Amino acid sequence: MPYYSSDLIEEVISQNDIVEVISEYVTLKKSGRNYMGLCPFHREKSPSFCVSMDKQIFKCFGCSEGGNVITFIMKIENVDFWEAIEMLSERANIDTTRFEVNTQYNKNDSAKKDLKDTMFKLNRDVGLFYHNNLIELLKEEKNPIKDYIISRKLDIKTINKFGIGYSTGKEPLYDYLINLGYTKDEIMASDIILPSKNGRMYDRFFDRIMFPIFDIRDRTIAFGGRAFGEKVNNKQIPKYYNSQENDIYHKGKTLYLMNFAKREKLENIIIVEGYMDAIALQKFGFLNAVASLGTALTENQARLIKKYTDNVIIGYDQDGAGQAATLRGLDILANHGLNVKVLKLDRDDVKDPDEYLNKYGPERLKNCIDKAISLVEFKVDILEKDLNLDNFDSKVRFLTGVSNILAKIDNNIERDLYIDKISKKYGMSPGPIIKEVEKGIKTKKEDTVELDMNSLNKKMQLITSVRKRQEQYIVALLISKKKNIQEEIINNISSFDIEDENVRKIFDFILSLKDKYDINKIDILSKIQDEDMIKEITDIMYIDISGYEEKLLQDVLKNKKKEKLFTRRDEIIKRLTENISNDESEILKVELNQIVIELSKLK
Ligand code: CTP
Ligand code: MN
Repeated sequence: MPYYSSDLIEEVISQNDIVEVISEYVTLKKSGRNYMGLCPFHREKSPSFCVSMDKQIFKCFGCSEGGNVITFIMKIENVDFWEAIEMLSERANIDTTRFEVNTQYNKNDSAKKDLKDTMFKLNRDVGLFYHNNLIELLKEEKNPIKDYIISRKLDIKTINKFGIGYSTGKEPLYDYLINLGYTKDEIMASDIILPSKNGRMYDRFFDRIMFPIFDIRDRTIAFGGRAFGEKVNNKQIPKYYNSQENDIYHKGKTLYLMNFAKREKLENIIIVEGYMDAIALQKFGFLNAVASLGTALTENQARLIKKYTDNVIIGYDQDGAGQAATLRGLDILANHGLNVKVLKLDRDDVKDPDEYLNKYGPERLKNCIDKAISLVEFKVDILEKDLNLDNFDSKVRFLTGVSNILAKIDNNIERDLYIDKISKKYGMSPGPIIKEVEKGIKTKKEDTVELDMNSLNKKMQLITSVRKRQEQYIVALLISKKKNIQEEIINNISSFDIEDENVRKIFDFILSLKDKYDINKIDILSKIQDEDMIKEITDIMYIDISGYEEKLLQDVLKNKKKEKLFTRRDEIIKRLTENISNDESEILKVELNQIVIELSKLK
């Protein structure tokens, strides 16, 4: 990554409106001059995540995360500062080359960055190594690997497109990487090579079909390796080995083949379970297929999808689809505002989309996709399968279960349509279902709290001590854009007056700025990279002092004076208890008297 001048930071902030950017991840509702939504950084039922359009900052009053648009991207995408800058530049079509500089911006930052870059490159080289192995094997007349590849209907075009490979042990990967110039530390950090007891360097994926996993920017970040042959059938070894999570690979944030599927305004995305399912779908022209790789879907994946489309079709293995973990994953998607449908294969002699495609072809699968059922219908189906509807008890349980599912639908029309459809399908009268559903809706209403900035602000005030609040006012005044106020603060308050470490750091930082008299609120935030300081300054920015500046300034100065008097008073009292001369004692008593009078005036 090149080094950029800090002007790029300001450009990125001004070209990426925070409300727009955050809306790509969080559903926001306008509330006065702010926008509110459910915090993406912690679990919550009622919104305490607040985005300010005026200030271009966000703040969660629940978990206290906060910052500007760059901080937001860093957190949500789990990238470092400059990666966030690059992503936002890309988003706003900013030509970053205009901001490239040759000097190093921050040594520490770049060391970490360099290691990550090396890891991306190393993974890519490993992927190429595996891929070339496979290509060589396919040139041979006959061998078990080639047979397996043919049996899985993987053609050369597909193998090339997705970088599929084979991890042979014949030419050790370790030596290959050393020859490419990687250090031992770098190689070990990648976690692909494991040392054995006798000092040999093993490829952990030895003898497997290799699927490189890419991130959204086409970089190779991990691998999945599939074993084949006798051993797998006998279940002596795991069918798949996958890379461990590390700095560049976060399983829950990745969707396999999303880099190929992503396009602006995708009509929908098909999520399947396995490598081979996603590959087969893409091979047959379903370019919107991605795989969750056998794990339950996460909030991060939901947000990733939401960037490209609002519609998801789940094509999970037919046997596993009823599992609780799957359902939870689907609810996560729905909670993020995605419209979720579930694919049902119309044949039960195949287990997953890959097998279906190879046996029945793409047209017939397309037909199933068009008929995908809604998440609600899917849940009702599962409920039905779990219960035997012939008996009275389970019929009651089924109806209650269905009512619970329907009560969760927010849209009245949609809910009524389902009541109608389901009561018809199961030959039941809709009356009792409607009653049960209404009961469910009532309890749901009771546990959602109206979003209310005022009460949130009050809550914040309660957790912040009076003392700290006073200190926050000092900084708030300092950035108030009123020159006379700023000068008063700078001339009368010093860093020693501030007890709270973060507030003090910010105070010192602002005073160190060359243009401290021309402070622009947004600029300060773009210059800070320390996480605690960012949280603190966003807290302070949320304190609305406009119209009260003069009064607060007087308070701050008064408090400072009071504090000085208190300190002096305590000193005198202590001194008076010591063995001192009568003269000194008299002088001190006069002073003490004066202090008491002054303090009473200041009350
Ligand atoms: N998986 C895994 N480890 C295993 C089994 C499965 O990581 N031991 C993950 C893989 O990402 C796999 C997915 O779960 O792709 C789905 O598993 P499964 O349906 O068993 O495999 P398929 O993808 O269908 O693989 P194949 O068709 O090659 O049997
Ligand atoms: Mn399969």
